[in-house]
Amino acid sequence: MSEDHKLRLSVSHLLDIPSLSREDIELLLHRALQHKRHLAEKTDVTQTLAGKVILTLFAENSTRTKSAAIMAAHRLGAKILDWDEKTSSSQKGETFSDTIRYLSAFGPDAIVIRHKDYNAPYYVAKQVKCPVINAGDSWRAHPTQALVDALTLMELKGRIEGLTMAICGDVAHSRVAQCNMALFHKLGGTVHLVTPDYLRPEKIPYPNVKLFNSFEEGLKGCDAVMMLRIQKERMDQSLIPDDAAYFNEYGLTHDRLAFAKPDAVVLHPGPMNRGVEIADEVADDPHRSAIFHQADNRVPVNMAALDLFLP
Ligand code: NCD
Repeated sequence: MSEDHKLRLSVSHLLDIPSLSREDIELLLHRALQHKRHLAEKTDVTQTLAGKVILTLFAENSTRTKSAAIMAAHRLGAKILDWDEKTSSSQKGETFSDTIRYLSAFGPDAIVIRHKDYNAPYYVAKQVKCPVINAGDSWRAHPTQALVDALTLMELKGRIEGLTMAICGDVAHSRVAQCNMALFHKLGGTVHLVTPDYLRPEKIPYPNVKLFNSFEEGLKGCDAVMMLRIQKERMDQSLIPDDAAYFNEYGLTHDRLAFAKPDAVVLHPGPMNRGVEIADEVADDPHRSAIFHQADNRVPVNMAALDLFLP
C-alpha cells in the first residue's frame, strides 16, 4: 500500500477486468499476496485505512463478496456504512439516483456496490468523488471474483499465462465467467466453455475462448475446471432444467474430471448447488478441489483493492 503502488494503478475505479491493464492486475495480485502473508503471520497491523469510511451498497444477495469486503475494510482499520436495500427507502419509492445523491453527500471514502443493473457501478462512479469497487453487476462483471480466482491459480499453478481453464455450466448468465474470460485474455491463458446450448453466451468475446458441448472434449488438456451454478434469478423460467437431469448431463463427478489433466484443480465462485452442477465427491476432494482455497483469498483480494484504490 505504499504511495508508490497507489501511483501505479492506471484507473480510479475497479469496475471490470477489461478496463485494467495487465500491470494493474499483477499489482493487485501481488498486493493481495502480501496481505495474505501478513494475515497468516498476524503482522498486518498497519491499519492504513484508519479514519476512512466505506459504504457497502448491496442491492442483490451476497454471502462471500459482501462479508469479504467488510472483513477487509475492518482489517485495514476502516469503518463501514452499510446500506441495506431491504430496510432502505428504496422500499418507499425512492429512485436509485436519489439514493446515490444522498449517500454520496455523506462523503464516503469508497463505495463497494452490487447491483442487478449492468450500468449501476458506472453510473455511481460518475456521480461520486470516491473510488467505486464493483462487487458484481448483472451478468457482466465481477472483478474481485476474477482476481480471487486468478490468485488461487497463481498459487496452485504458478501462472495464468499458458494455462487452460474450462468454465462449465451456466456461462450465459455469469458475470464470473465474463470476468474470468477477460482476465485469461489479458494474462495469456485459454478458456474452454463447456455448456448446454441453452446456457451458451450469445457472443464469444475473445479469440482465446473456445466452445464445447461435452466434458470429454472440453476438459481435455485443462489445468483448471471452474463450475458455475445455474443462475435461475437471471433466466427465463421456461429454460430452467430439472436438477437431477442437469446433474446427469452437466454435473461434475470424478469420472468427468478425469477428462482433464491429472493434476487439474476445481474452482467454484459459490454458492454451490451440490448435486446439480457439482458432486460432493468433487467439491470436498482435498486433492482436487480448490474451492475453499478460493475462500482464503477473498479477504486479501478485497484488502488489496481497498488499499490500492483508496486515495
Ligand atoms: C457469484 C455472483 O454473485 O456472481 N457469487 C459470488 O459472488 N461469489 C456467482 C453466483 O451467483 O452464482
